[in-house]
Amino acid sequence: MRRRQFLQTAATVGAGLTLLPSGARAGGKGSNSKLNIALIGVWGRGEAHYDSLAEENVVALCDVNEARFPKALERFPKAKTYVDWRKCLEQKDLDAVVICTADHTHAFIANWALNRDLHVYCEKPLAITVEEARIVRANWMKKKGKLATQVGMQRHANPNFNRIRELVRDGAIGDLSAAYAWGNRQIRRAGYLPAEGQAPAGFHFDLWLGPSPDHPYNPGYFSGESGLNCLSWNMFWDFGVGQIGDMGSHTMDLLWNVVDANLPTSVEATGEKYNPDVTPVECQSHFEFPANDWRGPIRISWYQGGEMPRSPKPYIDLKQIDHGAMFKGSKGFVIADFDSRILLPFGDDSDLTYYKSPTQDRVLPPLGHFQKQWLDACKDPTRKTACDFEYSGNMIEQLLLGLVAYRVGRKFEYDGATGRATDCPEANELMGRKYRPGWTLNG
Ligand SMILES: NC(=O)c1ccc[n+]([C@@H]2O[C@H](COP(=O)([O-])OP(=O)(O)OC[C@H]3O[C@@H](n4cnc5c(N)ncnc54)[C@H](O)[C@@H]3O)[C@@H](O)[C@H]2O)c1
Repeated sequence: MRRRQFLQTAATVGAGLTLLPSGARAGGKGSNSKLNIALIGVWGRGEAHYDSLAEENVVALCDVNEARFPKALERFPKAKTYVDWRKCLEQKDLDAVVICTADHTHAFIANWALNRDLHVYCEKPLAITVEEARIVRANWMKKKGKLATQVGMQRHANPNFNRIRELVRDGAIGDLSAAYAWGNRQIRRAGYLPAEGQAPAGFHFDLWLGPSPDHPYNPGYFSGESGLNCLSWNMFWDFGVGQIGDMGSHTMDLLWNVVDANLPTSVEATGEKYNPDVTPVECQSHFEFPANDWRGPIRISWYQGGEMPRSPKPYIDLKQIDHGAMFKGSKGFVIADFDSRILLPFGDDSDLTYYKSPTQDRVLPPLGHFQKQWLDACKDPTRKTACDFEYSGNMIEQLLLGLVAYRVGRKFEYDGATGRATDCPEANELMGRKYRPGWTLNG
């Protein structure tokens, strides 16, 4: 029996209530108890979590690079250290894990943690293939209400996210027909880096590669500063998905928070010439989504690497917004970046009399601190987190389908229930990837 289960059971018995069945942890720990947390990936993005985690018990630190431990131990001196996340997850007193590793390991660690009944905070992207996204989402859906999940799209806490949602939902642009998001980061690489030198002592490069195919060590994968080193490896297919896993996750979140979409029914994409080593810089993908209970069918588009949607007016230069979103309705447009927006009504009847701006009591409440929202939900998993693995799993599955369409070079129809392209067998070949022997995605 894990410590958390013991505490819950003890609390339940103490209250004279029925014992929870083994493995059921509804309700979580009392909100006064501290969580026992493993931080996996302790430098870089991991450091951004130190302050919020310091309010809990960080009992395990895991990093493939042992040189990262001394500084992390200064902050969390009682933690045990590990270089292999599989060993770390065996620690018996864990309640929760925070995953800040390279993208190609996210779905692995998240699945293993969920399968061990641990709450999970995973840095974006949740997955780098459609299959990974579907498995990790399904694992969580089985435990929804008992385990808390969150993907690291912390910009979601910006008030602007909900202000845009209110504008569109309340009809400021009439009936929504299309939504566009874009990011113009352009980091070009020719191919995987050649062998160069040896990994420094204490740096377990083989564990860093983990489930991905073998590649020679090159310090160029690790030359970035703290929090930006992901830009040294995330464009290579075996380690990431380029801009989609990078700013694309944040920017699509700005759009996704508004549209209440599930999974697309068709996907198409075009982009620069395919490189088997490196994900595309220039690419655009388009998705059809069915109607839901408040809007008709919509088309969602993602543009990257300098490709852009057409501006509704020549005097608005969308390129001045590095990472942005635009919503098109029957009566106008909303154009936004992460913390501001423009409303552009158009047409003869766009007098805005059809639109009532929300009164104070109808304004969506602030999300609060994004990481704390997850910590609170770990203690009471019936509480919702904004970017749980259902919302974030659907969102990244959509973006990853765009990369599949880019690779097959043609439009296909998609069945979200099965995760298969219904008219394009070659797309189905690209929904997953091959792993090195010894690594299990859903272990
Ligand atoms: N939410 C955000 O705004 C944001 C910002 C930056 C990065 N990120 C995400 O955070 C993740 C890490 O990015 P980064 O720039 O910090 O990368 P990084 O290369 O600096 O790695 C971070 C730490 O994880 C360790 N690590 C890598 N793989 C590991 C493994 N398999 N097991 C244990 N430790 C491992 C590294 O040694 C390093 O100490 C990426 O997935 C990135 O997308 C998110």
